[in-house]
Parts: sequence; structure tokens; C-alpha cells
Amino acid sequence: MKPVIAIYPGSFDPLTNGHLDLIERGSKIFDELIVAILRNPEKEALFSLDERLEMLRAMTKGHANIRVDSFDGLMVDYAMRVNASAVLRGIRAISDYEYELQMALMNRKLEPRLETVFMMPAEAYSYLSSRLVREIATLGGSVSGLVPNMVEEKLRKKLHPAIKRRERRQKTGR
Ligand code: PNS
Repeated sequence: MKPVIAIYPGSFDPLTNGHLDLIERGSKIFDELIVAILRNPEKEALFSLDERLEMLRAMTKGHANIRVDSFDGLMVDYAMRVNASAVLRGIRAISDYEYELQMALMNRKLEPRLETVFMMPAEAYSYLSSRLVREIATLGGSVSGLVPNMVEEKLRKKLHPAIKRRERRQKTGR
């Protein structure tokens, strides 16, 4: 039987424990899982593509059937280039469903040979998103338990000047 290759595309800005949970689950049901980071020059990211590749590679290095890569252009074209037959996406809550359904059906229209597979992360991560992690970390809040330690450390280093400025403003009222 032909091995089933799946891609797990996303921005991963930054990688969260919810992403890692889904990667673990996906790696158990697919023969190979390619975590594919979108290179999007139009969207300003907090972490550079190299930083995101480094973090994802470090956090998945124990798994022989997981590969980390990046892509630009249409996701379906990338999937065909790497011989993937499935796309893995996570659904946390009903609110994700509408956008994910629209994207899955549009991708099916573009490339009917590619099947979208939805998986649910652990309930503990059902409210977690990279956008909220960025916002909380930028405003000096704790993201402990929401992202891997390595990501937490990198967020602290990157946002250190912003956190210091915020603390100074709070002290001086300016
Ligand atoms: O982590 P995100 O930001 O929710 O991931 C969205 C992503 C990268 C899966 C989506 O934006 C995507 O596939 N972009 C590539 C361009 C593309 O194929 N667009 C058509 C989608 S129907």
C-alpha cells in the first residue's frame, strides 16, 4: 500500500502546545506528516520564518515521520509537489468550523485529489491561539503552559524591551 503523506499547513507564529498536540495526533495516523509553514511576505510575523522553522524542528526532532518545511503560493500546489494526499487542520470550537469548511471546500475545488482531515486538539487547548499568545506576551502576561518552554523563552527575549517599557510606563504613569 502507498504510504499516506499529510501536510499540516499554518502560520505557526508562534508554535503553541495546541499545534504540538495536533502534530502528535497526526503523526500517529499518517505515515508521514509534513508541517508546512506559510511564507507570507504580506503578513508581518512576530517570528521570522527561520525562527519558526527552528522552533518547530527542535520540538519535533524525536519523531522519525515528521518533517518541517515552508511553502508559498497555493497550499494545494505545494501538497501535490510533496505527494501529499491529505491536509490536516485542527478544529477547536464551532467558531473555527465556518472558515475551515470554506477553506476545505475551496481547496477541494482547486484539487479534488487532496482530502482535508479535521482533528480536535485536547480540550485544554480549545481556547488557545497564536494570536492570543502574541497579544498576552506583548502585554507582559504569562503564556506558561500554553507554548513550549523554548517558545516562551524566545518570546521573552524578543519582547523584553516592550515589557520593560510597559513596566516603566506603569511606574512613572507616562
Ligand atoms: O495558521 P493559519 O494562519 O490558520 O493557516 C492558514 C493557511 C496557511 C492554511 C492558509 O492561509 C493557506 O493555505 N494559505 C496558502 C494560500 C492558499 O492556498 N490559499 C487558498 C485557501 S482556500
